Amino acid sequence: MKKTTLLAVETSCDETGVAVAMKENDSVTILANAVASQIDIHAITGGVVPEVAAREHVTVIQPLIKKVLADAKLEPAELDGIAVTIGPGLMPALAVGVQTARTLSYAWKKPIIPVHHIEGHIYSALLNGQEIKFPALALIVSGGHTLLVEVTGHINYKILGTTVDDAAGEAFDKVARLIGLPYPGGPAISELATKGDKHAFDFPRPMTTSGDHNFSFSGLKTSVLYAWKKIPDDKKEEMKADIAASFQEAVIDTLAQKTDHALQEKPYQQLLLGGGVAANHELQERLASVSSRVNIPLSVAAKNLFGDNAAMIGQAGVFGYEAGRKKTWHEVDAQARINLEEFSIQR
Ligand code: KG4
Ligand code: ZN
Repeated sequence: MKKTTLLAVETSCDETGVAVAMKENDSVTILANAVASQIDIHAITGGVVPEVAAREHVTVIQPLIKKVLADAKLEPAELDGIAVTIGPGLMPALAVGVQTARTLSYAWKKPIIPVHHIEGHIYSALLNGQEIKFPALALIVSGGHTLLVEVTGHINYKILGTTVDDAAGEAFDKVARLIGLPYPGGPAISELATKGDKHAFDFPRPMTTSGDHNFSFSGLKTSVLYAWKKIPDDKKEEMKADIAASFQEAVIDTLAQKTDHALQEKPYQQLLLGGGVAANHELQERLASVSSRVNIPLSVAAKNLFGDNAAMIGQAGVFGYEAGRKKTWHEVDAQARINLEEFSIQR
């Protein structure tokens, strides 16, 4: 029986993630998973300060590694390697995870499996134990990224479209800040939206007729700004929920329409949804109806695994490892910008 066991590390932004993933034949089990969130720290500044994030990663990463190995009841010698997010992300933050992985790789004499952060979000949709059928279409929506990716086989990606300006999650965060909601904006807006009227404001659905698969959320954010400025100060509090609901509806409608267009172009077998914004219930429901129209299943990560975590890095890592992606410690570096397609195993 073929078995691969990896320690996985994720530090690209404001969550320190460490996990142990084990693949036996075709099924992956997460033996241990720990996430140390820095949200409380970054809420004070209303966003992530890279150096602050890095300092927090340094403080918690070693105890987390000790903890997950104990939880998984494993000795380092029993591991096949160390999967680590090498990019994209905040350079000082990424560097902590990568340097930790390099040190462990050297000390334990185990290979490193470099993982692209978005690859992790794609594989997060399979963390429920779902199988994947190819070709699959993945919609990845997070604080830093908005992507439609064709997954032609395991570890094989083709980017169909991306955002030309702000990411979907970034728009949630900026609009939340505008209307006085706390960081991160996504959960705060979606909660307030339940009390508002999503038809109260007619915000644009950017690039839904562009004929390509790209996104843009900067103009939508500006429309919200103008609408907000027009509301008299003494009415702002009572109109806030309508703004939140109408903005959220515009983002979801845009994501759903663009996904729908892509699904019309090819007989995709499965739709995958990942990234922090995937935690949004309205978005999940809308995409479920989009996928059922073309009779394919929608796979969404298990609860609590939408945001950044190392389970998804381990999940992608075991497939990468089995496809031959093994590096020595001196071959691996953090890269703030790196293209997902470069991680594809060409077949
Ligand atoms: O994947 P993630 O944890 O980090 C990045 O790689 O960026 O995504 C974080 C993003 C934030 O912008 C946050 O506001 C958004 O995901 N988010 C949501 C929800 N929960 C988190 N956006 C909309 N609705 C939510 N329920
Ligand atoms: Zn992420």
